[in-house]
Amino acid sequence: MAAKLLDGKSLAAEIREGLRLEVEELKQAGRAPGLAVVIVGDDPASRRYVNNKKKACEHVGITSYEYALPGETTQEELLALVDKLNKDTAIDGILVQLPLPSHLDEKTVIYNIDPKKDVDAFHPFNVGKIMIGEPDFAPCTPAGVMELIKLTGIEVSGKECVVVGRSNIVGKPQSMLLLAENGTVTVCHSKTKDLAEVTRRADILVAAVGKAKLIKGDMVKKGAVVIDVGMNRLEDGTWSGDVDFEEVKEVASAITPVPGGVGPMTIAMLMKNTVTAYRIKQ
Ligand code: GUN
Repeated sequence: MAAKLLDGKSLAAEIREGLRLEVEELKQAGRAPGLAVVIVGDDPASRRYVNNKKKACEHVGITSYEYALPGETTQEELLALVDKLNKDTAIDGILVQLPLPSHLDEKTVIYNIDPKKDVDAFHPFNVGKIMIGEPDFAPCTPAGVMELIKLTGIEVSGKECVVVGRSNIVGKPQSMLLLAENGTVTVCHSKTKDLAEVTRRADILVAAVGKAKLIKGDMVKKGAVVIDVGMNRLEDGTWSGDVDFEEVKEVASAITPVPGGVGPMTIAMLMKNTVTAYRIKQ
């Protein structure tokens, strides 16, 4: 294997340890930061993510409050909960796990979260602040990706950065963070004419589309940094990223594993944002 493995699991543990010490001090000065985690229905992937987020809170010393609502929850009920959490002074951060069941309107729910408690940075106010380069909250997955890129020691400035995927959660904010670091950024999506031609230009390639092994070895420039945001369940029950790891690791200079790459970093950034939300409120 030619590529350096970007170990998100270890880096996330280091970040959590730093936060744990910070939270220890906050507790002595007053109270622990509080994070409300809302999950609607019983999607197994969402349940797994929420459990990992709660576990990270325990490590760091953040008090987590889980609100597990039944799949039949109405929009009014969910909005009433969000309103209650907005007003609750023990709660610094609110996270509504996505996707919501299809009868619920995600956009309205996100719009109703107090931007000061929006630790996912999904509210348009926070998205706007990211866009102008003045974020209060770094979007968790893209911020985690930036930390992993930093691990390589490679400067983003002036590099060709290609983001595959244009979701509001990853692709779009990712492109903004790379741009803020002076990368030359191209965003690819399902209508991109010749994906391989674009990805082969990348010094830094971020794949965030949700298609297992989409990025093959011949789509990657020799020596590129490859970050894989995908988490795709294969038929045999194992997980694969959006990158064909076995092929690409022979071409890239650095690559993230799946699992153990971006995933733990997303959660570490969520912990960081919760501490930030606490500080904003003080
Ligand atoms: N679903 C997939 N990723 C995320 C995330 O980062 N935050 C929330 N709230 N839901 C998600």
